[in-house]
Amino acid sequence: IPLLLLALLAAYLLGSIPTALWVGRRFFGLADIRQHGSGNAGATNTFRVLGKKAGSAVMAIDVLKGYVATALPAWLAVAPAGSGPLLYAQLGAGALAVVGHIYPVWAQFRGGKGVATIVGMMLAIAPATVGVCILVFLAMLALFRYVSLASMTAGLAFALLQLLPMKPFKPDQSFMLGVGFAIAILLVYTHRANIGRLRAGTESRVPMPWAR
Ligand code: G3P
Repeated sequence: IPLLLLALLAAYLLGSIPTALWVGRRFFGLADIRQHGSGNAGATNTFRVLGKKAGSAVMAIDVLKGYVATALPAWLAVAPAGSGPLLYAQLGAGALAVVGHIYPVWAQFRGGKGVATIVGMMLAIAPATVGVCILVFLAMLALFRYVSLASMTAGLAFALLQLLPMKPFKPDQSFMLGVGFAIAILLVYTHRANIGRLRAGTESRVPMPWAR
């Protein structure tokens, strides 16, 4: 149990690392990226405000935070490999990393929207499903050019994909279905300002590569 608590605490602190804020400050002398663009401390806004290199770096690190936090309970062997309890420990740690990313203790509890960190979390648990969701994300982005809409749709796709009996049935599957819908709902919540802008027609669109 103490090992599990350690993993959960480490997951929250890791998720709390405000990558976008830090990259902006350290490499661009930008005091607070939350005062620019969409005001979000995430990879998308870093792409928007600081360019491709900075955006890719923030995205990679935010994905990694989720992945490492979720893998931690397995690395620390808090429960036997392949067991139900290990999955629950990993989901708990991943969820805390996501909460840390959205409400970072190191940055006045104002962080990002959780997309990259959830991708990292689920890469550690269901990589094939994440692959499909990334395709959904890219298709939505190519069609509508709103990152927020593509992110929310990919989150919903993740939940719906849990319904597919692709693997031999495990009791974990129904739990993952609940987790999937929790993620989809969380993403709608963290994107509530984006939803307002989408409805008002004022959400910013990303240019397509061939249009540059
Ligand atoms: O990564 C979050 C994304 O879905 C939306 O970000 O900056 O456009 O609000 P942003």
